[in-house]
Amino acid sequence: MCGIVGIIGKKQVTSEILNSLKKLEYRGYDSAGIATLNNGEINEVKCEGRVDVLEKNLLKLDTSGNIGIGHVRWATHGAPSNVNAHPHSSNEVSVVHNGIIENSTLLKKDLIKKGYNFKSQTDTEVIVYLVSEYLKKYKIKDAVMKMLSNLQGSYALGMIFKDYPNLIIGARRGSPLAVGYGPGENYLGSDSYALKSMTNKISYLNDGEFCILNNDQVEFFDEQGSKINKKILTLSSDEKNYDKGDYKHFMAKEIDEQPNVINNCVNEYIDKINNDINIFNFPWNEKDIRNITLIGCGTAYHSCLVAKYWLEELTDFEISVDIASEFRYRKNKFKNETLYIFLSQSGETADTFAALDLCKKNNMKTCAIVNVIESSIAREANFVLPTHCGPEIGVASTKAFLGQMLVLYILTLKLSFLTKNIEQKLYKEKIKDLKNLHNKVKNTLLLENKINSVANVFSDAKGCMFLGRGTSFPIALEGALKLKELSYIHAEGYPAGEMKHGPLALIEDGMPVIVLAPRDNYYKKTISNMQEVIARGAKVLLITNKSEDDVFSENIWETIEVETANNDLLPFLLTIPLQKLAYFSALKKGYDIDKPRNLAKSVTVE
Ligand code: G6P
Repeated sequence: MCGIVGIIGKKQVTSEILNSLKKLEYRGYDSAGIATLNNGEINEVKCEGRVDVLEKNLLKLDTSGNIGIGHVRWATHGAPSNVNAHPHSSNEVSVVHNGIIENSTLLKKDLIKKGYNFKSQTDTEVIVYLVSEYLKKYKIKDAVMKMLSNLQGSYALGMIFKDYPNLIIGARRGSPLAVGYGPGENYLGSDSYALKSMTNKISYLNDGEFCILNNDQVEFFDEQGSKINKKILTLSSDEKNYDKGDYKHFMAKEIDEQPNVINNCVNEYIDKINNDINIFNFPWNEKDIRNITLIGCGTAYHSCLVAKYWLEELTDFEISVDIASEFRYRKNKFKNETLYIFLSQSGETADTFAALDLCKKNNMKTCAIVNVIESSIAREANFVLPTHCGPEIGVASTKAFLGQMLVLYILTLKLSFLTKNIEQKLYKEKIKDLKNLHNKVKNTLLLENKINSVANVFSDAKGCMFLGRGTSFPIALEGALKLKELSYIHAEGYPAGEMKHGPLALIEDGMPVIVLAPRDNYYKKTISNMQEVIARGAKVLLITNKSEDDVFSENIWETIEVETANNDLLPFLLTIPLQKLAYFSALKKGYDIDKPRNLAKSVTVE
């Protein structure tokens, strides 16, 4: 999704902006651009495509200057093109923008009447002319405030001004924005990751705030223009995670990192000496909670669906699961005894943030399970449980999914114990099993060659289905999502028992169907459902767990056996072959695995 960088210093900034834009590439984007200010002139260079193309264009043009802004764009208003790429500039001002200005059509009409000629189809260009208009009458700070007061929708903005060569202005509503501090220079970034190569000293803007950066100071203001103080945070260094090492793709590296991710997370939450779960400072008494609502988007939503099965099995709470973009506009019945849990790898997903904000406004109990602890969702929630996965760069989420499930499972066990729904002995046994999960994931990863060999069938398929029951149903949804995201193959996840109510009509000779049938309570039922699709010509890849008992079914095309574990932990193991399958299918098709078309890592617009 769109990314912003701004730098004001004493030396040339173009190459540093370019480096930061490269860091933002992981978010997914379709065009890029830079504007600098030099000798009272705004120089703007932009292009459709990757930052490499921008870099080549920059060699031909002069973009010197010690103040500048850069952007990678993920199209919302107007197709990806040179002219729609950011920055957008007038003679007076140049602007980069993340978010969506919802009243841009109305504002545009007004500005056209005033004589402004729009060059692009973007909503952002209205910001340029609005502020240019106000600059005719007001000084810089007032002109920006007047402009902001006209905007409806969401924005993170970076702006430079022809007549103010010593400042960059940033503003935030709905889309995240960070400020970084360096020696003799200061930075603006849509996330701290963009700024990490330059500084580890960061402040975050809250909604409605704006900031003025000079090379030696940064001032922050609230919506009314009153000065405010900001905390400066020191970021931890995890540089090695931003490197592919010997891997061809971040995704392959991130899949293989999962045993370590699990180990780290277990070490963070499990007290190995007492064989107990450490969730310190849980701010509520479990007796005050009767319902739990889990909310997320995409992969994070799937982890919520898995947790519903665990929570229903191991606690007495009423559990509901919601897609954030649906939750935020529904008429919700907010009750004091409900705990709302928000799942998000990035912690910046606009829909999830809006759902959290809604719960906060209704004084609900809110808990966030996030990977990025400095993120907006983490900062907004009452209580945060980090997943400790380290940065995830591949757009399609893999290790973060396992991390989310793990934290949800650990929380389930803790709540189960606190509410006396589980006996101490079983609780301790389940914790012991958790401590060995990383080894089971490690061994399951060894199935790589087999998965690689079956992947041909999937990469050639027109479409395929993923079936499962119980916790394997959301895993089937996740498997289908991974294949769609990476291989652009139409894939559907379905509850195996529902096939007969419609989707069986899709099955034709040779259609690949993945059946997830671990040896859990649903096993026999799922095997019967599998036979129904085989009877109609499906080419079935069965994924189950190792067992001494043979599978009693004929005409299965291929079988993959993951490690075995207690039923609660099977979702972790079943996920591995599905991630690898999506990876190898996309690899065979030659697609851009870490940056699939049309997708973004951090979806900061609705
Ligand atoms: C985007 C990504 C998905 C991700 C979803 C939710 O759509 O492409 O991989 O699952 O956002 O992201 P979050 O950061 O909130 O987990």
